[in-house]
Amino acid sequence: EVVSHLHRTGFHFQPPRHWINDPNGPMVYKGIYHLFYQYNPKGAVWGNIVWAHSVSKDLINWEALEPAIYPSKWFDINGTWSGSATNVPGKGPVILYTGITENHTQIQNYAIPQDLSDPYLKKWIKPDDNPIVRPDHGENGSAFRDPTTAWFNKKDGHWRMLVGSKNKRRGIAYMYKSRDFKKWVKTKRPVHTRKATGMWECPDFFPVSIGKKTGLDTSYDGPNTKHVLKVSLDLTRYEYYTLGTYDTKKDRYKPDGTTPDGWDGLRLDYGNFYASKTFFDDTKNRRILWGWANESDSAVEDTLKGWAGVQLIPRTVLLDSSGKQLVFWPIEEIESLRGKNVQMNNQKIEMGQRFEVQGITPAQVDVDVTFNVGSLDKAETFDASFATKPLDLCNLKGSNVTGGVGPFGLITLATSDLQEYTPVFFRVFKDGTTNKPKVLMCSDAKPSTLKGDTGTDSTEKMYKPSFAGFVDVDLADGKISLRSLIDHSVVESFGAKGKTVITSRVYPTKAVGDNAHLFVFNNGSQPVTVESLNAWNMQKPEKMNQGAK
Ligand code: FRU
Repeated sequence: EVVSHLHRTGFHFQPPRHWINDPNGPMVYKGIYHLFYQYNPKGAVWGNIVWAHSVSKDLINWEALEPAIYPSKWFDINGTWSGSATNVPGKGPVILYTGITENHTQIQNYAIPQDLSDPYLKKWIKPDDNPIVRPDHGENGSAFRDPTTAWFNKKDGHWRMLVGSKNKRRGIAYMYKSRDFKKWVKTKRPVHTRKATGMWECPDFFPVSIGKKTGLDTSYDGPNTKHVLKVSLDLTRYEYYTLGTYDTKKDRYKPDGTTPDGWDGLRLDYGNFYASKTFFDDTKNRRILWGWANESDSAVEDTLKGWAGVQLIPRTVLLDSSGKQLVFWPIEEIESLRGKNVQMNNQKIEMGQRFEVQGITPAQVDVDVTFNVGSLDKAETFDASFATKPLDLCNLKGSNVTGGVGPFGLITLATSDLQEYTPVFFRVFKDGTTNKPKVLMCSDAKPSTLKGDTGTDSTEKMYKPSFAGFVDVDLADGKISLRSLIDHSVVESFGAKGKTVITSRVYPTKAVGDNAHLFVFNNGSQPVTVESLNAWNMQKPEKMNQGAK
């Protein structure tokens, strides 16, 4: 089979070929990290899905094992779909996953390791007393999937977990509880629902600490926490989350009033990021988020190139000190891949100027820059009608539309003459009455490639969107940072130390390999200063799933 390497990543998680989607059941067991994922062993489009299985000691180098779960019994013969792992004390890890039955009904199954003394957990058993949960008459058997990691309630001795669903257009997260992890009973009411949001795929539900910069075990129940409920909306192909309170007696979740609960809610990533899942890493006391980025070229191209989908760099998840949002940061291990470093300091950029970051290979770098915007006097006034529509703003005011303060930022994966480029940038507005800054962040794939659609069919169309989010910073000291992990066809960008994250997938035709360039730019009338910039060439991990079947 031919695999095209042109846009394959250097340091992201990928099998050697074929289609991947959701990360499944991430966990750490006996010091080994496990990542399962939805995988088509036969081609570069979705289908024939199994749970591929990879293991790692450092979250950087990965070894492929045999698929852990694949269709073989009446309760999963038509599909082994997404799910989660739970470390059950005294029992070991248990996987909960969605099986598609012989009648095409979605049900929840469990699988257990054959040999708990094997840290690689190579073999998994699907006991014959499956399934553990079937849709009852009120539930929708064709929209009933993706069980979460379970958590244990010490007070009543029950485990609990969620299953994503919908009723007509109402999104639903059903809750089930169990004493023995086998007999599961639905709770009286769903933990949460929301009208007009459609199917809730891949729910994720976990506590975060108020104040402490460490993650919490999914079963943690104590003071000074909030809960996070994240869902993946199949109608928009975006995820959103709320922060809120989980009432463990009533088994109900209530979002804080400060965050919208619906399509305009907060996102883990405002770009190409879906079906994500977190797990608690007790070896380093952190919660880690894994998300999948689909291709945004056409399905026809995917088949030609022989592969589709990447898992993005794992990110630590913490509650922001404001208590109003989460913050995300690439796991520290990724820094072990940093090679040659170049820097830029105190570089003033006047309107219309751009400076090249030289001496590195910009198709595969980690770049971290801190800008100082100086005065906000020239900032454009924020039009209140834009309040919930950052995307409209980025589409209206791209990287070449002159502003007051900004647009400024990075130009990634560019040809030297900007025939192709993917800009990641900020534009600073100010509120007409309070003068407070309103910061917009954009990652724009529109100018990323000269390549057009190969045809008019939906399978022949490229997707070159701009992505956008606001960044909740006060700019009191004038500073705002931007870090991008650039990897051939992936640009993962972290604004203001991870307050707003945007991932784009792009397919340049000329800005590839050694012909890719990286710039800092400013198209605002107010000069901005690069206080400091560090860029590192990124090495390939030694092992990346060689030989995966
Ligand atoms: C999300 C999803 C899940 C499902 C799986 C199937 O991308 O649609 O809801 O379990 O993918 O591969």
